[in-house]
Amino acid sequence: MKLFDVYPINDITITKAQGSYVWDENGVQYLDMYGGHAVISIGHLHPHWVKRIEEQLHKIAFYSNSVHIPIQQELADKLAKVSGKENYQLFLVNSGAEANENALKLASFHNGRKKIVAFNKSFHGRTSLAVAATDNPAIVAPVNQNDNVIFLPFNDEGALEDCFRVHGKEISSVIVEGIQGVGGIQIASESFLQKIRQLCDQHKAVFIADSVQCGYGRTGKFYSHDHAGVNADIYSMAKGMANGFPIGAILIAPHFQAKHGMLGTTFGGNHLACAAALAVLEVIEEENLIEQAKQRGMYLLNRLKKIDGIENVRGRGLMIGFDVPAELKDLRQNLLTKQNIFTGESKPNVIRLLPSLAITRKQVDEFLEALQEEVEALKQAEVAE
Ligand SMILES: Cc1ncc(COP(=O)(O)O)c(C=O)c1O
Repeated sequence: MKLFDVYPINDITITKAQGSYVWDENGVQYLDMYGGHAVISIGHLHPHWVKRIEEQLHKIAFYSNSVHIPIQQELADKLAKVSGKENYQLFLVNSGAEANENALKLASFHNGRKKIVAFNKSFHGRTSLAVAATDNPAIVAPVNQNDNVIFLPFNDEGALEDCFRVHGKEISSVIVEGIQGVGGIQIASESFLQKIRQLCDQHKAVFIADSVQCGYGRTGKFYSHDHAGVNADIYSMAKGMANGFPIGAILIAPHFQAKHGMLGTTFGGNHLACAAALAVLEVIEEENLIEQAKQRGMYLLNRLKKIDGIENVRGRGLMIGFDVPAELKDLRQNLLTKQNIFTGESKPNVIRLLPSLAITRKQVDEFLEALQEEVEALKQAEVAE
């Protein structure tokens, strides 16, 4: 049977991983500045994560949500402590799209309204409502098209005010990434997030903070929206939550009332996923990884700004992007093939850096040196042409 061919892939087979490195089948080592798509938060195969999953596997891996699963409460308590959102409620799912799907649905159950405000270049996932709120027509099937979603320019407070003036009574929720990932590492300004909070309060709409990529400590605070000093009503998360074990979740503000049957999932909150997610939070605490992401990120950002040739270096913590001008268009590919370094991208010309929060200073320097070398090589090739 053929695999359904939906991913443009690199011709590389990864067979081993440790910390911020992975190895291919020929034993070639690669530095992972991509974190397997922002998923590797505490480092590949962190020993505590392996041990936690192994121990759980010897007890029970799965039982349905029809019985008590105490490890879910353990995870909720730890998440409350590490995120600082002590009085929120937790609903566990399996992916980022599912988290956003449930967030948007819960908002609509809560206020009985239909309209969703989302922003240009947003990405919220590929399930029906999440993709309808995603600004990429190429991935929205006709059946997903939804007249209830209003797209506004990102960081435009005036447009948001105008929209609430016209549709205020119909707007169920506003969904926003604290830093757009797929959209090219675009930071939501603090005043924009504060404006969303203010307008949602004023019009009884729900503020959904999509933290699937920018959350979980990556930006130097637990949620990137925390930089603006506002609390959202619902936070969605996934990616870094269990360091590669599939899980997603929403944190729900205390004023939301749960009703039996209103949300549900078969696999969400299974024992193994909870063990993996607990391991991640324990390591984040133990190794002070949120502060480390902030410090390493600042160092990386400042050093990148000094590299002549790359443009618009931006980001927070270990969520960093820069523009690649046309004369350096092969930079990302060369980093991979000549320097054995994985990076992320946002089309058309952004390199995205999303390494593990546990990346060392030495590894950051290794990346910077390789990047400098490849930028110089491409510049010289351009001059020689
Ligand atoms: C901001 C954001 N939201 C949602 C998603 C969807 O997550 P998943 O692929 O786990 O469904 C992504 C994935 O890239 C994302 O970056």
